[in-house]
Amino acid sequence: MSFKLTDKVTWVGKIDWELRTFHGDEYSTHKGSSYNSYLIRDEKTVLIDTVWGPFAEEFVANLKKEIDLNEIDYIICQHGEVDHSGALPLLMKEIPDTPIYCTSNGVKILKGHYHQDWNFVEVKTGDTLDIGESTLTFVEARMLHWPDSMMTYMSGDNILFSNDAFGQHYASDLMYNDLVDQCELYQEAIKYYANILTPFSALVTNKIKEVLSLNLPLNMIATSHGIIWRDNPAQIVEKYLEWADAYQENQVTIVYDTMWNCTKRMAEAIAEGIKSVSPDTTVKLYNAAETDKNDIITQLFKSKAFLFGSSTVNKGIMNATGGLLEMIRGLGFKKKKAAAFGSYGWSGESVAIIEEKLKDAKLEVVQEGIKVLWNPDEEAIEKCIEFGKNFAMKL
Ligand code: FEO
Repeated sequence: MSFKLTDKVTWVGKIDWELRTFHGDEYSTHKGSSYNSYLIRDEKTVLIDTVWGPFAEEFVANLKKEIDLNEIDYIICQHGEVDHSGALPLLMKEIPDTPIYCTSNGVKILKGHYHQDWNFVEVKTGDTLDIGESTLTFVEARMLHWPDSMMTYMSGDNILFSNDAFGQHYASDLMYNDLVDQCELYQEAIKYYANILTPFSALVTNKIKEVLSLNLPLNMIATSHGIIWRDNPAQIVEKYLEWADAYQENQVTIVYDTMWNCTKRMAEAIAEGIKSVSPDTTVKLYNAAETDKNDIITQLFKSKAFLFGSSTVNKGIMNATGGLLEMIRGLGFKKKKAAAFGSYGWSGESVAIIEEKLKDAKLEVVQEGIKVLWNPDEEAIEKCIEFGKNFAMKL
């Protein structure tokens, strides 16, 4: 499959309908993904990015149907992660001398992955490549989300090839934002931001301001995953500015793990207490062990506050809760409030451990956690409801 974005630009990537996990098992991809590669034919011919290694043979074979590989003058590698560079080794066997344009960090990363001394040309922000009627301008996007990440702006067609930024893990044959289901699109876009870009939010804001200050006309944002933004492409830029600014909705999320439903009963009673004080607040409950971790992270990203609960097991917390708390520590959510709860039978360490982990994640723990011995009785349920009320009043 290939299709033309414009007279000069052709998509030559791969839609991966089967993909269900990404970054190993770190990111769930319920709707598959795509690896978008673009071929620009002006006076010079340019290939921007490739695809993941398992699709290398298919990619090179399809590219040969599109063009004589020897006609490719330049390859631009915007990001060395293997989902975009994975077909380079096979492609470079065919055209070994073709220059590969990337950042200095890109050279290190590509050498680190493939151990090849290809014909690298290092570029930095503001460097340009004249390819005929159009000019390509490079914009480094360091740590968005790897040290080598960069974007490329094509004049004339006014396309920003944004690599991972503004992307989504979303397989669709429709490929454009105005053609796909908007709920699916934005669900995947916010999940992508929440799970991958949250730690770099300050950089996102600065980079967007830097690009906007150039006042470049923008007809399309051609991402490296998912659909291409051609209908009002600024909409996703505006969303990113919102998401990068300690984003929150009027939502409280309660995450728990439970052995015999005692902690679950506490979670439901706490939710009842929150709702009684703040009926307009969306309160969502998730059993950490039963729910996709990245979907929970997306809900936490949208929340102004959250609570974590776990039974005590072996003087510790249950593993699904522990895994999520570690993800939260790494993501570095800003300006969110939190508290802990949990049931126990004898030693009862879980609440103190969760509180410690919430503080370690730089969250504001607004009240002391609540512990219940064994199965909560009526009095304990009342205390949990009160706990929820107090929590809601602190938001
Ligand atoms: Fe889609 Fe960071 O690779």
